[in-house]
Amino acid sequence: MRVPGVAALAAGVAEDSVLMIAMVVRQMLGRDGPDGRGAAGQNGIRPDGQASAYALGVSQPASDFRTAMGQFATGVTVVTTLDGDTPQGITVNALASVSLEPPLVMVALDRRRFIIPALEACGRYAVSILTEDQQWLSDCFAGANVTPGREAFCGADWDPGETGLPLIRGAIASIECTVLNRFEAGDHFLYMGRVDHVRLQDETAPPLLYHRRRYLRIERATTTTVAGKPESPAD
Ligand SMILES: Cc1cc2nc3c(=O)[nH]c(=O)nc-3n(C[C@H](O)[C@H](O)[C@H](O)COP(=O)(O)O)c2cc1C
Repeated sequence: MRVPGVAALAAGVAEDSVLMIAMVVRQMLGRDGPDGRGAAGQNGIRPDGQASAYALGVSQPASDFRTAMGQFATGVTVVTTLDGDTPQGITVNALASVSLEPPLVMVALDRRRFIIPALEACGRYAVSILTEDQQWLSDCFAGANVTPGREAFCGADWDPGETGLPLIRGAIASIECTVLNRFEAGDHFLYMGRVDHVRLQDETAPPLLYHRRRYLRIERATTTTVAGKPESPAD
């Protein structure tokens, strides 16, 4: 595997969520120990007597965690890589902008995802941020039973980026990255990517959103006050 600097992190809970990413960032910032248990010992209790995030996590029903994180609206992306010369992609919403200087992004993938061997062999990935018109791509790259399917890159139009990675044509923006680190976090891997190149494609297009396990669209219908004299008085 070409991914350098593999670090271990057992966050104790795992969901496609920013919470998990926040825990890793805390660990990177030195606020949590390498096992994700803060400055805590094996019992999950910090020396200051506070329970760690790990200890709190295991005492809460997973369904509550899912419900809570489902309230956190996200965009939707397709993470792509190259399997040799063949483009591969998967739908991902667990994406975080981690650092501006240097620019770093992180994606969280369930360890069972089909794309992991190819992504790790390539050592690079691209993130394409979908527009609301690209919901069909989100479904297909999430493994929907459609034709052409994910094995055929969903029939998506794509262009090679500056580094050769496949970028979804018509996406709002695409970001090409080199994997700096892989962190183990419960049942997920977190891939910290150094941003190599950004392609802005259509910054004005409305993004596809994901909320409460459903797609969400930004409402654009608005009302404005009539400045002229109305035919009948307003209520
Ligand atoms: C909107 C949306 C967001 C998703 N985000 C992630 C994610 O961040 N990480 C992940 O591992 N899977 C995520 N998934 C699930 C995968 O896209 C889907 O389960 C996967 O493509 C199935 O692949 P597999 O056959 O490798 O399991 C998401 C699915 C959808 C519909």
